Amino acid sequence: MTKATHLVALLQSHLDGDDEQFLTVAMQAAANEARQGHGKLAQQLRDMVDGARAKKSKPSRAVPLVQPRGELANLVAAKYVDTRLSGMVLPGTLRERLERVIVEQRQAFRLRQHGLRPRRKLLLIGPPGAGKTMTAAAMAGELRLPLFSVLLDGLLTKFMGETASKLRTVFAAMAETRGVYFFDEFDAIGARRSERNDVGEIRRVLNSFLQFLEEDESEGLIIAATNHPELLDPALFRRFDDVIEYALPNLEVAREILKARLSTFDTHELDWTRASTEIEGLSQADLSRIADEAAKQTLLDGRERVETKDLLAAIAERRAAARH
Ligand SMILES: Nc1ncnc2c1ncn2[C@@H]1O[C@H](COP(=O)(O)OP(=O)(O)OP(=O)(O)O)[C@@H](O)[C@H]1O
Ligand SMILES: [Mg+2]
Repeated sequence: MTKATHLVALLQSHLDGDDEQFLTVAMQAAANEARQGHGKLAQQLRDMVDGARAKKSKPSRAVPLVQPRGELANLVAAKYVDTRLSGMVLPGTLRERLERVIVEQRQAFRLRQHGLRPRRKLLLIGPPGAGKTMTAAAMAGELRLPLFSVLLDGLLTKFMGETASKLRTVFAAMAETRGVYFFDEFDAIGARRSERNDVGEIRRVLNSFLQFLEEDESEGLIIAATNHPELLDPALFRRFDDVIEYALPNLEVAREILKARLSTFDTHELDWTRASTEIEGLSQADLSRIADEAAKQTLLDGRERVETKDLLAAIAERRAAARH
């Protein structure tokens, strides 16, 4: 018999609208049946879950994305992404904060019924390569929303007034099409009002942004990211529901990133402690590339086992590249 705990977990995940958890519990129930010798039933459950997953993994293709047209085409790039939060290695507290946004979005309807607003305006700050852009993609992937990346080149023009009116066009699109709207390199828009030379125009742009952000009641996510939070106008911070800080990886996160990227290889003989002494100061992006380089070397040598020297060589190369 399927355990009562599985039924409870199934119902809970259904109520939470968490499809992935629902299927995970179904797989656990299948494993439970298999252990009790109900092989046929177990197989039937697994097939159903696999079928549902296969269908789910390509829903975006079934719904053609309406590409931005007219003026908007120069202001945002639209795409569907498959990035998931589970594909990211994150310290516990950061993962919890990002998951909370997803849960609140999934439960938005219930929250709104009680006059509550789900978190949806996020500011991501932290050093290059620490996963800010990847987070925006993962949010879109988790929520099955299109990712609209705002194109700074299109937005920022040297003509007075145009940028503010373009910003209005972007915010109007948010109200029209639910999605994740991503403002990368946000300091270009959000720098302190006093620190600019061409004060008139840029102050206008920032003021417009502040006003649009405050007034915006659309249903998607607005995510801004910057490596330079110290440049941002202080008035910005409180307009966001959450300010989320990224940092370079600690040793544990660093090792997890390497391991995850090398998961299809034999890494038993790797001297992680030796490698760990070399990875200080490298970003998540550096580490992913290092793992990929080590993997390539292993494959090209016709080996299945990644060796410590592969990692060390890739690390040294990355460091050398970073110095240029
Ligand atoms: N937390 C993470 N887990 C796994 N891989 C990561 C993580 N963070 C970054 N990466 C890897 O590094 C790459 C670059 O990260 P990303 O572009 O998100 O950094 P960023 O913070 O936006 O940097 P920048 O400030 O330069 O734009 C990702 O595509 C991914 O391969
Ligand atoms: Mg980025």
